[in-house]
Amino acid sequence: MSEQAAAAACELPPHYGEAAFDRDPLRALEEGHRRHGPVFRMTVDGNETVLVGTWAGLVELFAGERGRLEVLNTPLVHDLFGRALFNLTDDGHAEARRRLRPALSGRALPGYVPPLLEVTDPVTGRWAQHGVGDLYTAVRALTGSLSARVLLGIAPGDADAAGFASAFERFVAASGALPGRGRFMSGRYWAGRAARRRLHALFARRAAAVAEPGSDSALAGLVAAFEDAPQEVGPLPDHLLALLIAARETTASLITWCLVELAGNREHAVLAQAEADGAVAAPELLARRGAVPVLRAVLAEAQRLHSPNLLSMREAVCPVDLGGYRIPAGSRVAYSPSAGHFDPEVFPQPHTFQPGRFLDGESRGARLWAFGGGAHACLGRPLAELMALTVMASVLHQGVPRLPGGPPSRIRYRPAKAPLTAVPLVLDRQETAS
Ligand code: HEM
Repeated sequence: MSEQAAAAACELPPHYGEAAFDRDPLRALEEGHRRHGPVFRMTVDGNETVLVGTWAGLVELFAGERGRLEVLNTPLVHDLFGRALFNLTDDGHAEARRRLRPALSGRALPGYVPPLLEVTDPVTGRWAQHGVGDLYTAVRALTGSLSARVLLGIAPGDADAAGFASAFERFVAASGALPGRGRFMSGRYWAGRAARRRLHALFARRAAAVAEPGSDSALAGLVAAFEDAPQEVGPLPDHLLALLIAARETTASLITWCLVELAGNREHAVLAQAEADGAVAAPELLARRGAVPVLRAVLAEAQRLHSPNLLSMREAVCPVDLGGYRIPAGSRVAYSPSAGHFDPEVFPQPHTFQPGRFLDGESRGARLWAFGGGAHACLGRPLAELMALTVMASVLHQGVPRLPGGPPSRIRYRPAKAPLTAVPLVLDRQETAS
């Protein structure tokens, strides 16, 4: 290390003090990185936080993460989610990922396409007939049904469907209780704990009844993968709840923005519609790499422009060197998945929706970070992308999306990026699409 680098490594990163993070967090992050480079400090939610961004910053962060940075979760999250993946560390975490992954990716995916379409097609048929009062609410409900079907084998008409949905809602509500000791005073916290017990009992019952791996839900494969698992990987019911939660707002967010952008870019919607018709006739295309390129380009551009997650939080468990600075143990560190998505060198005209850049344009091979990276990179990415492609294909097969009230004018960024007010949607039937 040169003398200059060694001196910098003793300093804290610069503080970016003017940012109105709450008002426009993405702009604040973009401006902070423009002024100070990959690493700077900023106050986030009242806490001093080291922000890491840009392509170079994220690569450095993920390369040195294991053993130095841990996911920063509140006591409430530890308490509700037990030994779920994002609460585990070190070898237990790595081993749990190894056991969870096969049922969520690769050869498992083609088997999930028929059940995903079985859930989606009747819903988009109703959207085409009656329109949708609020796109995000409708997509969120659909995403919940898709996750229940593909992760647990619970179809919408199943005897367990209503019980699962109401217990899950109570559990989700508990995650909004106070994060510290104050949670013990909250009714929704205790209701959430009771819901957790009901959900675990339901998972155990369904797990005991599943057929061999290779069935059309992930549960059979997950049960088999955890049969001989050592204690350090945590129990499968904790992981199932984590998968259901991790899938929920994020996937609903991404699908919503795909549909919003298709509605605002009719020429792409019409191009993608031809692929959608083909995919409905031959659904296996949806899980095939390289197939449906226009739909995949729309998906990639929506990920770039509308990353569902705003920030992922870490805590330094020892001093960490980042960007030439020395970050003390105990510091909060955060990265924004979208912090590298607006670099005009990589993505010319970064604020406009241009799926063509992923088809044959200059950004074709560019790395997107919407699903994170490093030790805690999203395990559900293949499944989330399959769900999004399925919904887009099913919608476009019914008609071209249109937003009669225009695109969302106000947006919230947490827990995932979503319109703040209702966005009505209609589908213009194919014969009327010009
Ligand atoms: C568009 C949808 C999704 C997005 C944008 C997304 C994004 C992310 C991101 C950014 C992370 C990393 C968090 C961190 O660094 O702390 C993550 C982690 C995770 N995601 Fe996703 N996710 C999506 C859907 C899903 C789905 C469908 C599942 C499960 C079926 C899932 C399961 C997980 C799990 C278990 C983790 C934690 C991994 C770990 O801690 O090792 N996600 N996700």
